[in-house]
Amino acid sequence: MEKIVVDGGRPLKGSVKISGAKNSALPILAATLLTAEPVTLKNIPHLADIESLYKLLNHLGTAIKVGKKSVVCETRKIKSHEAPYDLVRKMRASILVLGPLLARCGKARVSLPGGCAIGARPVNLHLQALEKMGATIQIENGYIDAVCSQLKGTTIIFETVTVTGTENIMMAATLAKGQTILKNAAREPEISDLADLLIKMGAKISGQGTDEIIIDGVSALTGVKEHIVIPDRIEAATYMIAGAMLKSEITVTDVIPDHVQAVTEKLRECGARVEVKESEIKVTGPQKIKPVDIKTMPYPGFPTDCQAQWMALMTQAQGSCAITENIFENRFMHVPELMRLGADIRIEGATCLVRGGGELVAAPIMASDLRASACLVLAALASKGVTELHRVYHIDRGYQDIVANFKKLGAKIKRAQVKY
Ligand code: UD1
Repeated sequence: MEKIVVDGGRPLKGSVKISGAKNSALPILAATLLTAEPVTLKNIPHLADIESLYKLLNHLGTAIKVGKKSVVCETRKIKSHEAPYDLVRKMRASILVLGPLLARCGKARVSLPGGCAIGARPVNLHLQALEKMGATIQIENGYIDAVCSQLKGTTIIFETVTVTGTENIMMAATLAKGQTILKNAAREPEISDLADLLIKMGAKISGQGTDEIIIDGVSALTGVKEHIVIPDRIEAATYMIAGAMLKSEITVTDVIPDHVQAVTEKLRECGARVEVKESEIKVTGPQKIKPVDIKTMPYPGFPTDCQAQWMALMTQAQGSCAITENIFENRFMHVPELMRLGADIRIEGATCLVRGGGELVAAPIMASDLRASACLVLAALASKGVTELHRVYHIDRGYQDIVANFKKLGAKIKRAQVKY
């Protein structure tokens, strides 16, 4: 097991190249199950979650060639329609194979993802939508068993905005009979990226990026010569927040500035200078950070995936602020760890009251989930002394080269083996 060791308290300077978006790459890789022909993808990030999905796709029958610059996926035949517990429990996004399997071969058996550190995270809306499209679904022994002769187009109104739910049903609908209309659909850039790939595969989709997506089913989808995954807006926002927090000058390159606009605006409110060019953003941290409230919302609102990092920043603000989590019911696991570093935070229901300005001082801390671990790396970088962050496997799920990147920016940070 590894830990990250940070000797904090120094300002950083330089630039970080942002990788392909994990949350785009996952549904896009799952979408390759919809065709028997090869699909060539670029800008797929090197992450533990992506490796987990490769394993699952391999199990289902996909031949995957990972080259230096591209990944080619080819599923001539679905060999198994079962996504086993052992593969799904490592990564909840494995549920994304449900729609494609059902659409391509009329049956799917997918382990029901359990809860996770940030909440119960049910998949009832995915299942209700597939049932409305004609699938028969049973849950038995912890597995979702879904069968259908052919999915049928219909209108689906999502009760809650769900990102992977919208993606699963959009993929399933590409091969359904007739028209599917998704209302109250998620508008995240990752949905549009997936839709762009599906359109290259021959799908008929419109409205992606709005809350109403229309899919006209086709009889088969084809291979794709090239699709480049969009940059990871959450990774970019994490380094931008670090720039503001550490009174540093950090430039993120290879980004789509529009995708991080909610974070950019909040950073400006807290006093940071944010200079935006076509595909790069430079953040210069203010001498005094102003406290700024946030409320997490579906895109284009402030992303829940940046809530923990924002809280790390606010521990350094001159005053108090409220951070409200509206998407997940239990996404404050980082709070007790921040408090171990000396932060002053009170949880009141879905809101955290952060009283900033106190000095953070090194302590051993533990990551509970992916974004909490990013928050704790930022907090460690701002703390006085040497902090050891444990359970860093969480961070490897979603941040490519985070230690190397911060080192390049001038941080004293390394990985080390945990000795018991
Ligand atoms: C995706 C992202 C994750 C991000 C989240 C919210 C991926 C792989 N993951 O997760 O990084 O934090 O969006 O932006 O893209 N819900 C239900 N029933 C359902 C589905 C969802 O009640 O069937 C609820 C969830 O519990 C949650 C809310 O809806 O409270 C939003 O969840 P959802 O958008 O589905 O999150 P994910 O797609 O799992």
